[in-house]
Amino acid sequence: MGRVLTVLAVAAIGAGIWYVFQCCDAPQVPKLDLDEWWGPKDLKGRTDASIRPFHVKFDEALIQDLKSRLKNHRPFTPPLEGIGFEYGFNSKTIETWIQYWAEKYNFTAREKFLNQFPQFKTNIQGLDIHFIRVTPQVPQGFKVVPILLMHGWPGSVREFYEAIPFLTQQRPGYDFAFEVIVPSLPGYGFSDGAVRPGLAAPQTAVIFRNLMHRLGFKKFYVQGGDWGALIASSISTLFPNEVLGHHTNMAVVQTNCNYLKLFIGSIFPSLVVDPSLADRMYPLSNFISYVLEEFGYFHLQATKPDTVGTALNDSPAGLLAYIVEKFSTWTRLDHKKKLDGGLEFRFTKDQLIDNLMLYWAPKSITTSMRFYAENMSDKTRNMKLEQIKTPVPTWALQAKHELFYQPPSFLKVKYTNLLNTTVLDDGGHFLAFELPQIFAEDVFKAVKAFREFHVKKNKTEL
Ligand SMILES: *[C@@H]1O[C@H](CO)[C@@H](O)[C@H](O)[C@H]1NC(C)=O
Ligand SMILES: *[C@@H]1O[C@H](CO)[C@@H](O)[C@H](O)[C@H]1NC(C)=O
Ligand SMILES: *[C@@H]1O[C@H](CO)[C@@H](O)[C@H](O)[C@H]1NC(C)=O
Ligand SMILES: *[C@@H]1O[C@H](CO)[C@@H](O)[C@H](O)[C@H]1NC(C)=O
Repeated sequence: MGRVLTVLAVAAIGAGIWYVFQCCDAPQVPKLDLDEWWGPKDLKGRTDASIRPFHVKFDEALIQDLKSRLKNHRPFTPPLEGIGFEYGFNSKTIETWIQYWAEKYNFTAREKFLNQFPQFKTNIQGLDIHFIRVTPQVPQGFKVVPILLMHGWPGSVREFYEAIPFLTQQRPGYDFAFEVIVPSLPGYGFSDGAVRPGLAAPQTAVIFRNLMHRLGFKKFYVQGGDWGALIASSISTLFPNEVLGHHTNMAVVQTNCNYLKLFIGSIFPSLVVDPSLADRMYPLSNFISYVLEEFGYFHLQATKPDTVGTALNDSPAGLLAYIVEKFSTWTRLDHKKKLDGGLEFRFTKDQLIDNLMLYWAPKSITTSMRFYAENMSDKTRNMKLEQIKTPVPTWALQAKHELFYQPPSFLKVKYTNLLNTTVLDDGGHFLAFELPQIFAEDVFKAVKAFREFHVKKNKTEL
C-alpha cells in the first residue's frame, strides 16, 4: 500500500512538473550578426574573399626545436605502484611515446600524409579559416552532395582522414556521394583564433555557414562530434532553411524537461529508456562519478585556459600527456586501468601524434581551450539555443562508449524531425577516427533518409 502511494505521489508531482516545463515558451531564434568581426580591428575592410591553397609544413627549425624539447625533458615523477592511467597519463608509458615522437615519427612522411587532401584557407569575419575540401570522382550525372564535417576538442581535422575516402566514393546502394568540407574550428589547428571574447558554438556556426556560402553551397548537410556536434546543432537551429540534414555522433539535448525525465528515470528507468539501453544512463550515480572523475579538464578550460595553456604550449611532453590521455578514457573508460592506457587498441602512435602536431605546430592549444570559456559565458547561455526546436531532419549515431546517451524521446524535444538513431554496440567518443567505415556507412544511411524526407515533404506540399 505504502509503495503504491509513493508511486502515485511521485507520478503526480512528476506529471505536474512535466506539464509546467512542457508549457514553457521556447525562446525565439536569436538574430546573430552575420558579419561579426573576430580579427584585429585594423584588418576590418581590408581582407578579401580569396580561397588560397594551403599545405601543412613542418619546417626544419620547428622539428629541431621540438626534438630538443622532447629529449631534454626533466625526469618524470614515477607512477605509483600498480597504477595505470587512474592518476592521468602514466609516466612510464609516456617515455615510449616521447621517444617515438622524437626518433621514429617521420615528419616528412606524415606531412605528406596530412597533405593528401586539397586544403585551403579563406578569411571569414577577420579570421583565416583552414579547411579540407574533397570533391568526389564520380561519373557524370551522379549526384554529389555537400557535407560539412566538424571535429571537437582535443581533436582536429585529422579525425576524418580515414573516413574521407569512404565518403567521397560511390557506394553500392546509393546514388550520391559526398563533397566533404572539413574546417578546423576557429583557434584550432591552422584556423586563426578570435582576438576578443565571445566566439562560442553559435558564432562558429555563423562562420562555418558563411564558409559554405563562400564555397557556393547555399544548402548543405552537417555532421559533428564533440564541439562539432554542438556547432552542427547550432547551425541547424540558426539556419533551418539552409541545412538539409543533421547527423550527429554526440546527441545531447540539455533542457529542464530532459533533466526531469532523467531524474524520473533514475527511479523508474523503464519510463524513459528501453531496458536494453538503461545501463547507458543508469544508475545516475555512475554517471555523476564519471563526470566528477573525468571532467576536471572542462572546468579548468572553462575558467583558466590561458594559465594551463602557458605550460602546454611550452612543453611537448606536457601537451602529449594532456591531449593523448583523452584518447584513452574517452575511447574506453576501463582502459584507465591499463599501464598503456589502451591507447593503441584502436589508434596508432602516428595517428595520435598527427593530431598532436596540429596543436603543437600552429601553437593552438590555448586558443582551442578558450572555446570552453566562451561556451560557458552568460552571453552564450542566454541564447538558450538548446531549448529552440529545429525542423531540420536529424539522425543520431550513438556509440556504446560515448560520454552520454539519450533516448529518442529526449532528442525529439529539440529535433522534431529525428528520423532515426543508430545504436552501436561498439565505439567511443572519437567515432569517425576509431571506426571510419562504420561512421561513413551511417552518414550515407542518414543522408539517404534526409533526401527521401525532402522528396516526401515536397510531394505533400504540392
Ligand atoms: C621518411 O619518409 C620519407 C618520405 O616518405 C622517406 O623518403 C624516408 O626514407 C623516411 N625516413 C625514414 C628514416 O624512414
Ligand atoms: C555549451 O553551451 C550551450 C548553451 O548554453 C549548452 O547548451 C551546452 O550544454 C554547452 N556545451 C558544453 C559541452 O558545455
Ligand atoms: C530505424 O532503424 C532501425 C534499425 O536500423 C530500422 O529497423 C527502422 O526501420 C528505422 N526506422 C525508420 C523510421 O527509418
Ligand atoms: C523540393 O522543392 C524545392 C523548391 O520547391 C526544391 O528546391 C528542392 O530541390 C526540392 N527537393 C527535392 C528533394 O525534390
